[in-house]
Amino acid sequence: MASIETSIATLKDTGYLKIDTPNIDYVAEIKRLKEEKNAVLLAHYYQIDEIQELADFVGDSLALAQRAAKTDADMIVFAGVHFMAETAKILNPNKKVVLPDLLAGCSLADSCPPKEFSEFKKQHPNHKVVTYINCSAEIKALSDIVCTSSNARKIIDSFAEDQPIIFAPDRNLGAYLNKVTGRDMLLWDGSCIVHEAFSMEKLIDLFQEHPDAELIAHPESEAHMLKVAKYIGSTSGLLNHVKNSDKKKFIVATEAGILFEMLQENPDKIIIPAPAKEDNTCACSECAYMKMNSLKKLYLCLKYELPNIEVDKDLAKKAIVPINRMLELSK
Ligand code: 13P
Ligand code: SF4
Repeated sequence: MASIETSIATLKDTGYLKIDTPNIDYVAEIKRLKEEKNAVLLAHYYQIDEIQELADFVGDSLALAQRAAKTDADMIVFAGVHFMAETAKILNPNKKVVLPDLLAGCSLADSCPPKEFSEFKKQHPNHKVVTYINCSAEIKALSDIVCTSSNARKIIDSFAEDQPIIFAPDRNLGAYLNKVTGRDMLLWDGSCIVHEAFSMEKLIDLFQEHPDAELIAHPESEAHMLKVAKYIGSTSGLLNHVKNSDKKKFIVATEAGILFEMLQENPDKIIIPAPAKEDNTCACSECAYMKMNSLKKLYLCLKYELPNIEVDKDLAKKAIVPINRMLELSK
């Protein structure tokens, strides 16, 4: 069995603690450790069902940031991806924030490297910078305000109509926002691998089988998907739409983890995940990063309080300004 010392030494390479855990009842142990350590477990809707079930709070990116900002727990266990845990740490510099797998990143955040973005920003000195929360602390520190897909429109509308804006990193969300706000924001060319994986060809086949279904989509999806979607919204927006709609059948274009909550809230409705181009197994889109977190990793992370998220103090001081501006505007 690997010792904790060996595991900590290899944490940098593996991203999480590699320790054998024979005969552990993860669910019982996670509940016990949460209680013992006064830890709060925050989970995104894209997490595996078992983690969503155990979480103290499940939400979209905005609700999770809002929860993290006001928690009185001693430790935040973030079942999500790195930028989410990093945001929680920036909001709680004196609390321990842990992420079950340090390698749970985000293709969208990775598509915006700070050095290149800083150069881009310098080329457009009269522009304000609005960044989607799916980015690193370094990018947040270069921003005027952060947004999520729940509040992006409101945040953009808060600027004067003639104010030039750079929007980063998601080009699909940015193009959608340009369309709905009538602006001409400069877009960074980043994207999410999951939301760009939907197959229009397979979707047409699916509609032939289910002509009575309504397509709903996350705004990180490509323009051709958004064009045919009847509703476009963040994960919480999609959940609210399905709950409040009279329709009985939906095709959902976002990460498939959302189906867990959607089916729980709507046991009488038929929810079909939008098909992905390459997937012939589950026929849905899954975020490999979000799915890196497992019950075992969650248990180990609560037990050893590792891997913990650290953010350089000076960087955190800069990054918290645009995050707080967003939280203020989202009350
Ligand atoms: P929301 O939950 O804010 O809609 O974000 C979706 C997402 O891609 C998170 O990575
Ligand atoms: Fe990033 Fe896309 Fe995964 Fe969300 S679904 S964490 S945007 S890669």
